[in-house]
Amino acid sequence: MQAAATIVFHNIRPRLNTKQTETIAMNLVLVTDLRAAALLMVAVLGCAHGGPASAARLQTGEQVYQDVCQTCHASGLAGSPKYGDEATWDALLAEGQTVLTAHGWVGVRAMPPKGGKPDLKLEEFARAVAFMARAGGADWQDPDPAMLADIKVEIDKRIAALKAEPAAE
Ligand code: HEC
Repeated sequence: MQAAATIVFHNIRPRLNTKQTETIAMNLVLVTDLRAAALLMVAVLGCAHGGPASAARLQTGEQVYQDVCQTCHASGLAGSPKYGDEATWDALLAEGQTVLTAHGWVGVRAMPPKGGKPDLKLEEFARAVAFMARAGGADWQDPDPAMLADIKVEIDKRIAALKAEPAAE
């Protein structure tokens, strides 16, 4: 495109005054820049969707909490365990990180599955649980691959139990 524009420009160049030449030159620069900008955007968007880098870009527990969980948990809305309320979290923490994370992921009564954010990854959700648990007095860390595997087993158990007995808690 740039080459073609340059040829046209050279052909009409002798008939133009300085002002017109400047204007056309500016436009050529603009066209070229826009094309470069478009290519850059395609490259950037390409990286953001899929690609090896995206797996590393999981949200932190705090980010997920701010983005999703705090809607309810900051104030204890709908009977949710309130963020930072150690007395409430005490009993939940006793269930253990694996079980509590799995149950939250599947959903408990007014607690929607995945916190109501279906595109959340299990690892991100688990980090958010750990983040809230720490505010509730626990020393839970972001889950490692072994714990994530255990959580998945618990999730399957929970789903099976709910299917067998819908009222199971
Ligand atoms: C729409 C409101 C709402 C949102 C959003 C929400 N929760 Fe909850 N959550 C609840 C409620 C209500 C409960 C209490 C459920 C019960 O025990 O009856 C709960 C309970 C929990 C529990 C305890 C589960 C158990 O076994 O008792 C965990 C863990 C949890 N939420 C984690 C999260 C995380 C992590 C997020 C964000 C990704 C989140 N929640 C987003 C409402 C919400």
